[in-house]
Amino acid sequence: MSKQFYITTAIYYVNGQPHLGHAYEMVLTDVIARARRSMGQEVFFLTGLDEHGQKVEQVAATQGKKPQDYCDEMAQTWKSFASRLQLKNDDFVRTTEARHKRVVQASLSKVHAAGQIYKKLYEGFYSTKEETFLTEKDRKPDGTFDPAYGEVIKLQEENYFFKLKDQQTWLLEYIEKNPLFIRPEYRRNEVLGFLRNNVLEDLCISRPISRLSWGIPLPFDPNYVTYVWFDALVNYITIPAALGDMVVSSALDTERAAPPGSQLSLWPADIHVIGKDILKFHAVYWPIMLKAMGLPLPKQILAHGWWQKNGERMSKSTGNVVDPIGVIDEWGIDAFRFYVLRELDIGPDGNWTDNGFQARYSAELANGLGNLVNRSLSMLRRYRSGRVPAPSDELSPDARQAVSKMLALLEQNQLQDALQTIWSLVNRANQYVDQTAPFKIAKDPAQARRLDEVLYNLVEVCRILAVLLRPFLPDTAARIYGQLGLSGVPDRFSAAEWGGLKAGHQIGEPSPLFPRKDMAGTER
Ligand code: MSP
Repeated sequence: MSKQFYITTAIYYVNGQPHLGHAYEMVLTDVIARARRSMGQEVFFLTGLDEHGQKVEQVAATQGKKPQDYCDEMAQTWKSFASRLQLKNDDFVRTTEARHKRVVQASLSKVHAAGQIYKKLYEGFYSTKEETFLTEKDRKPDGTFDPAYGEVIKLQEENYFFKLKDQQTWLLEYIEKNPLFIRPEYRRNEVLGFLRNNVLEDLCISRPISRLSWGIPLPFDPNYVTYVWFDALVNYITIPAALGDMVVSSALDTERAAPPGSQLSLWPADIHVIGKDILKFHAVYWPIMLKAMGLPLPKQILAHGWWQKNGERMSKSTGNVVDPIGVIDEWGIDAFRFYVLRELDIGPDGNWTDNGFQARYSAELANGLGNLVNRSLSMLRRYRSGRVPAPSDELSPDARQAVSKMLALLEQNQLQDALQTIWSLVNRANQYVDQTAPFKIAKDPAQARRLDEVLYNLVEVCRILAVLLRPFLPDTAARIYGQLGLSGVPDRFSAAEWGGLKAGHQIGEPSPLFPRKDMAGTER
């Protein structure tokens, strides 16, 4: 089987409620995955949950639950969140699943056998709240630690460490030679700067079972569990291994679980989509881990920014949060998907404002796209009983230009610019209605041919828009297709060629895609 386009999100900590930031990452990954499918590529889209660790153990205990029961409940919440966002993911990984644990242990065995893991006594500061060891560098001038670390204790403990020290040079060279490995460019520069100016410390990858039992036991020492990143990052290869990917299975000597003939070919991943806060783990630790396992590196790490609300960090304690489900209930899933991708390019931080959301809804969705589709289809029904006239190609150059520009942008994952390009076609077609004034020429029987031409151009642009919009706004695209009386869904960009609507085709019933809302009562 030929290799699929393999794209992943980060895996989400199970001990929190899903919020806008997670929804953004999931939606943007979904759009890239769907866009690749529309390009005709075979795609595998993986998302999932990070379920081990002290915090999960603690939260479960405070609720009087076993950690696994707690995780099972939370997994339902997260899965239904993903489905409300209309993710078309191919699998959903949970780090407490047997298929994941087996491969984590195989990868640890491999790296251990290669001499890259060693045990040593650690003596120093430890933040229980952040579950992390701290060094002198983390101390403030007055000797205290940032309050974010909570109580900091002195700890003496033997642990396992993963060697990073000798790995810096090749990684630096690799990133220098492969400009697409970390995107966007300024995030790449951050990693380069970090590698040039710091000496990597070996990474502690274990916790004694006496202190933390909710983890995957080290295969070479049952008194320890593996800690956080050696568990979490490995998810990107555990699912390929479980599905019979030969690259991972042969590097880790894992048995192939999938029946012969059904194996997928996934590794190396094409894109890991992550937030800026976990860039170091993905761009520094993960490549070094993969090299130690004898595996090729992912092709790209795509780091997005963080969302704020009204210019401030979202925080449950201050109530400054955006609840994506509330927004979806009120405005529809496509309005949500549209806003987050149109508002924020992949890279910088974004700012959610309810006014900004409503302004885009009203200008770009209701008055822009919605109005175009509604009036085009309504006029065709009113003036031609819904029958498509003979093809005409007045707007064909505009459409062709928008399609080729959008495809080029999607190749670069420039989703915001791609949406803008689609809207340039929406605006062009709305302007065409104003310029040609079909409602006026409809009154003059001598201009019947001209009216046919105008109506054809309008409905054909609507059809092409449905094709282009499909990865971004899947429901809306399907509804436009339905209203045009076309069967199936517009899931191939190749259908965006001019002339798809045939003369005599009977369209369906138009209905508003984005109902106008009375904004007065909705200010928040
Ligand atoms: N479990 C780790 C990741 C392991 S990946 C092998 C983790 N989980 S998380 O739930 O805290 O974050 C998951 C993703 O959500 C990260 O990519 C993170 O950047 C993203 N976001 C969390 N809050 C966010 C915003 N406010 N805005 C945008 N993305 C945000 O880290």
